[in-house]
Amino acid sequence: MLPQVVSWEGNRLSLLDQRRLPSCVEFLKCEAAEEVAVAIETLAVRGAPAIGIAAAFGVALETRGGRAEALRAVQRLAVTRPTAVNLFWALRRVEERMKTVPEDAPGDALFSVVLEEAKTIQREDLEGNRALGRAGAALLPDDCTVLTHCNAGALATGGHGTALGVIRSAREAGKTVRVYACETRPLLQGARLTVWELMQDGFDVTLLCDNMAASLMKSRRIDAVIVGADRIAANGDTANKIGTYSHALLAKHFGIPFYVAAPLSTFDASLSSGEDIPIEERAADEVRKLPGGGMLPEEYSIWNPAFDVTDASLISAIITEKSAIVPPFAEGIASFLSK
Ligand code: MRU
Repeated sequence: MLPQVVSWEGNRLSLLDQRRLPSCVEFLKCEAAEEVAVAIETLAVRGAPAIGIAAAFGVALETRGGRAEALRAVQRLAVTRPTAVNLFWALRRVEERMKTVPEDAPGDALFSVVLEEAKTIQREDLEGNRALGRAGAALLPDDCTVLTHCNAGALATGGHGTALGVIRSAREAGKTVRVYACETRPLLQGARLTVWELMQDGFDVTLLCDNMAASLMKSRRIDAVIVGADRIAANGDTANKIGTYSHALLAKHFGIPFYVAAPLSTFDASLSSGEDIPIEERAADEVRKLPGGGMLPEEYSIWNPAFDVTDASLISAIITEKSAIVPPFAEGIASFLSK
């Protein structure tokens, strides 16, 4: 059984501390939005939908201090991570709900409304993932091997997962799915989180280093690559964890379907293409740190983008809770977002 990633306990927010996995299952207990903001920045909670969910609860923590305090929390949480659009989407939802509470309403009214909205966002994400999982499962052969990158699982969402949700739903539908998980340098979300998450659920999962994917695709049968997303532009260009783009190029080369699984909250129709997606650059020390301790010299110049953008032309389908969208994506995306 996987632990609950984000949960409201009494008057506190409990977050599974994903920095400590897989060695320790520990929880952070947050009593202020600032603690939630730091948890997001340091990747204690991560994955686009989970970031949005945690941020919504983070605002709830400040509502008892009044509307101004809650709005300050929205502003603080909005500058934690720039790429995952689910963060801004969830904060907007909470802000809109706050507007429905009259200025002279008792303090608890704001709290109840924001807390309820955060719980709704979390519940809807879980339900959406189950729906997108079913839609994606239909695309997989009855007996298959897939490659995934980073962690787009229950740990990154309200539950079930997006890319891993497709894999879970395929198994629920009676299919046999073997998984290869790329380790996902530099912070090893694939090695630390995806392998652990899938093993908890008894999946056949094998870890490989990111630079082994080409050899894997050449030497073994891979039926599909399935990844999550942090932001999808109106034309289908998709930002996801750094390294995703190379898997997409490889999949094209080897004729392997490349699927992106994401809820509609991950789409950003205001951006016409992936060129406009802001890409987070993280601290050089994340790359400088050597496995087993020790650091590379300070004077090494290091580039550490957290995400890359995969061109829509490399994507076989974008799997959403409404159904899978196939190329050309622009029309399908526009019609799904307008309803
Ligand atoms: O830096 P992270 O761990 O937050 O990056 C996460 C990813 O890139 C996931 O693939 C993405 O957010 C989708 S999670 C359903």
